[in-house]
Amino acid sequence: MNLTVFGTGYVGLVAGACLAEAGHAVLCVDLDLRKIDRLNQGELPIWEPGLDAIVARNVGEGRLAFTTDVARGVAHAQVQFIAVGTPPDEDGSADLQYVLAVAESVARNMAGYKVLINKSTVPVCTADKVRERVAAVLAERGVAQPYDVVSNPEFLKEGAAVGDFLKPDRIIIGTDSDKARALMRELYEPFNRNHERTMFMDVRSAELTKYAANAMLATKISFMNELANMAEILGADIEEVRKGIGADPRIGYHFIYPGCGYGGSCFPKDVQALGRTADQIGYEAPLLKAVEAVNNRQKGVLFAKLARHFGGADKLAGKTVAVWGLAFKPNTDDMREAPSRTLIEALWAAGARVQAFDPVAMEETRRIYGERDDFTLAANKYAALEGADALAICTEWQQFRAPDFDEMQGRLSARVIVDGRNLYHPDRLKADGWAYYSVGRS
Ligand code: UDX
Repeated sequence: MNLTVFGTGYVGLVAGACLAEAGHAVLCVDLDLRKIDRLNQGELPIWEPGLDAIVARNVGEGRLAFTTDVARGVAHAQVQFIAVGTPPDEDGSADLQYVLAVAESVARNMAGYKVLINKSTVPVCTADKVRERVAAVLAERGVAQPYDVVSNPEFLKEGAAVGDFLKPDRIIIGTDSDKARALMRELYEPFNRNHERTMFMDVRSAELTKYAANAMLATKISFMNELANMAEILGADIEEVRKGIGADPRIGYHFIYPGCGYGGSCFPKDVQALGRTADQIGYEAPLLKAVEAVNNRQKGVLFAKLARHFGGADKLAGKTVAVWGLAFKPNTDDMREAPSRTLIEALWAAGARVQAFDPVAMEETRRIYGERDDFTLAANKYAALEGADALAICTEWQQFRAPDFDEMQGRLSARVIVDGRNLYHPDRLKADGWAYYSVGRS
């Protein structure tokens, strides 16, 4: 089947590559000429395990191509995926300008039936807006063309995106059209061979399902972070509590890890956007607001612990802090809303220096912060410790889990660790003379 995907960001590129891998002929369209040039040379704009091999194979076998030519994209397929960005605008609601611009481009160029599929995370009722925009352009053109708008949200996780797309837990499809439903069934047929994963529903329910999933997961994390902070004061160990409650299958072990807050391109943005939707429909949603507020506060815990250790935030001036982990989670170079940024920026504001290391996000960090006198990007995790007054851990990369503590001790000027991901045993470290502060354990 021929498919067009607008947008070569995380969702668009992974979807395009994986749909080609499933046998479809996919044309990816992006207005960014440099990005398309790079993609045509086999260079990926994102770091995602396994994606480069899939892109290379499918480009090589002629099932995947990249273009900036919008008209060619529209002509290529009946099915047009919209997978462009929906950044938060000033009030936190999702900015739909790119989504609607694609709808407009499709409407300007279409000749014959098209299905426009919203794959970007978009607020409930966006399908209606896409439908209206297409109708307005067609009216302007003075032509009548048949089309449907489908909601097909994406649930992939960064770092596991290829696997998530090729073996999804579920494929959510919101449509009120039999014709679109038949096309969607055919399109996803390769993903349903072993068992049926597709769930058809109405458009608004599909749109809300995406936000509901992310908000529920974010809620679990903020809830655990709230409890972790209480556990610290109460002298309880949140890791024991986590295991204790996770054993109840109604609660489960997933997404109840306390830490220095959630980041990334989805949770912060989607929780905020769902909160704005509540405002817009005149519904008070205190729980959603609290999830966001707890997370914002949690991103400050590492700085607060460092300040407490040194006897006040003002005492951090002139200190050097090593930071392990910059990406918002392991296996990605994504720094969007990363807790590391909150910490690093607070340290700079307090007059401290930062020596940081991340296994893959160094280039991205350099792009964001550039060269600064109070910032060093170290060659490896031990080099980051050289002469530092403390180590702060922001991301649970595998290589940080079992470091050589003797080596660390030799490099740091003091044995101080502030751990935002609870990687080590407090008793063992304390017995070895470390000042070790983690989350939810005293
Ligand atoms: C998330 C959803 O999982 C995915 O389904 C959706 O499509 C996009 O948003 P992603 O942002 O890639 O995916 O990362 P995820 O693995 O969910 O982690 C999000 C954040 O939560 C990270 O900062 C992570 O460190 C944090 N987290 C996760 C916790 O603090 N505790 C946990 O128990 C789990």
